[in-house]
Amino acid sequence: MNTKLIKTAALFLSLTPASLVAQNSPTEIIIDQPKKEISIQPNMYGIFFEDINFAADGGLYAEMVKNRSFEFVNSPLMGWTTYGQVTAVDNGSCFERNPHFVRLTNTGLRSGVGLLNEGFRGIGVEKGKTYRLSVYARSTNSTPTILKATIISSTGFNIANQEIKVENTNWTKYEVVITANETDFKAKLRIDLATAGTCDLEHISLFPTDTWMGHENGLRKDLAQALADLKPGVFRFPGGCIIEGNTLETRYQWKNSVGPVENRPINENRWNYTFQHRFAPDYFQTYGLGFFEFFQLCEEIGADPLPVISCGFACQFESKVKQPIDQLDCYIQDALDLIEFANGPATSTWGKVRTEMGHPKPFNLKMLSIGNEQWGEEFPLYLEKFIQAIRPKYPEIKLVGTAGPYPDGKDFDYLWKEMTRLKADLVDEHYYRSPEWFLSNANRYDNYDRKGPKVFAGEYACHDGDSKKNSFYSALCEAAFLTGIERNADIVHLATYAPLFAHVDAWQWKPDMIWYDNLRSVRSANWYVQQLYSLYKGTNVLSATANGKIISGENGLFASAVSDKNTQQVIVKIANTSNQKRTVSIDLKKMGALKGKNIKHIEYTGENGAENTLDNPTLVVPTTKSSPLNPTKIELELPAFSFHVLITE
Ligand code: AHR
Repeated sequence: MNTKLIKTAALFLSLTPASLVAQNSPTEIIIDQPKKEISIQPNMYGIFFEDINFAADGGLYAEMVKNRSFEFVNSPLMGWTTYGQVTAVDNGSCFERNPHFVRLTNTGLRSGVGLLNEGFRGIGVEKGKTYRLSVYARSTNSTPTILKATIISSTGFNIANQEIKVENTNWTKYEVVITANETDFKAKLRIDLATAGTCDLEHISLFPTDTWMGHENGLRKDLAQALADLKPGVFRFPGGCIIEGNTLETRYQWKNSVGPVENRPINENRWNYTFQHRFAPDYFQTYGLGFFEFFQLCEEIGADPLPVISCGFACQFESKVKQPIDQLDCYIQDALDLIEFANGPATSTWGKVRTEMGHPKPFNLKMLSIGNEQWGEEFPLYLEKFIQAIRPKYPEIKLVGTAGPYPDGKDFDYLWKEMTRLKADLVDEHYYRSPEWFLSNANRYDNYDRKGPKVFAGEYACHDGDSKKNSFYSALCEAAFLTGIERNADIVHLATYAPLFAHVDAWQWKPDMIWYDNLRSVRSANWYVQQLYSLYKGTNVLSATANGKIISGENGLFASAVSDKNTQQVIVKIANTSNQKRTVSIDLKKMGALKGKNIKHIEYTGENGAENTLDNPTLVVPTTKSSPLNPTKIELELPAFSFHVLITE
């Protein structure tokens, strides 16, 4: 056992019995200015997006048709049921990077010619809402053909339909808006060739007209709103292992994700075959939610974009394949070009692409992450090549390296040393760990080396038992752990929970912050902890001590405090992770004159196993009360298993 593990185990043993022992007298928490001023990064708490669990296609990206371009590798008709004379043709489409299309022939002798799309585990439509159906089509001779588009309910009824007259023999985009007259979570889209003749179809797409910010190639409004409501400071995208790919060919290549959406080539999703128990052979990436949409969303929700790019390693959990180090140029060029796409003038090659997509102004990219969870002796040599190319050209861009997939161990120690040698600005640490780990690691950063790179807690989540539920207890342990992150905001500069999204019928990985089906979404217990930290992050760290010591586990209590120089507020966070109620008194005397006369108290508690679900989305949510402020002593009784945020106002 290494020394770190022994320390962790010892701390855990010292925490557990204490949490079972009744507390005799209130814990007196003194809030004071710290010895050294520590400011908190304004973008400290954020989100991490990866297309896992149908997070993009079938999730945030509002497209409702699966395999809209007939490009699923080796299965151009996957997701479609055809009837009558329908064939997939593999070249001659109007989109060179998506060459397949379908040819429908109606001889006039039989009426049923067409195809039916199953959507992403169904198509969700709501009564009275409108949907934009578009299709590229051509008739093969000058007699126009008629297409009939129908949304069919899960019980087999026609709940919306429209006709499209295909008059041209050249590929032409046709668009109609249809209104659903019923609500259905698992409807299907049917396209019939209703008249005799031959008609070719390509890129059949269906979107709600009511998307986030009304964008046509848009995002699901409820899901984007759940991100906006977190007020995220930073937005890491697009992964995760997905940036590495199962092979180098299937890595995320950002250049494929920009330009006209119809011509973005499809990619196999990294998460399609990974878990035998969650097999998803129909999981592909359309890149419809690509880098332009990502930057745009960041701008709209006020988050700093943090792209992650491949460093030339395929996902090391799946493969040993790497790009030879002397042939890294195109990977490095991709990194440089991405910066130009985000920030370059409209006259630059990639700035022009951005401008043509509708955003002449730069997106103000400030950070770039190179590699995801890489490990081994070679990774630093690869990273070095990127740093040598990017630094001289873009010295203002912060570069993020990695400490690998685990929060400790030989690889972790080696990588940290190497990241320091390479002068990475931040090091991305990942921890998917048990409740015990989260509690015993709340003091993880108290003695971290302050001389090297800063920490980016880029992926973390408390995994509560085998069920890996988004239980209230997992959220509470994260809240307790985050007191340590907050206290150490001088070294921890960014933190993002992971993963972000999951479709209830198509997930691969649990827990996840936001769950949804085709119409509804639910914010997990963990979402609320993220929101509380983000909304009440403050601007400066204060000291919060009991008996002169930081509060990190004794009697099951964890606490931290911050001030907000903009609002003149003091904010105290306390988690009671014990199974006993605890009393605390908070002394704000040393804080001088406080703005306001009240204290807002947000209390967050629930059954340990409680989980917000689509049917019961608000089972565990914080509650707020306000009471007059007595700065000398705020007495509080903290129920067993509860989290509290106190804000002077
Ligand atoms: O978040 C899910 C996966 O966990 C990420 O893709 C990867 O970085 C980590 O192993």
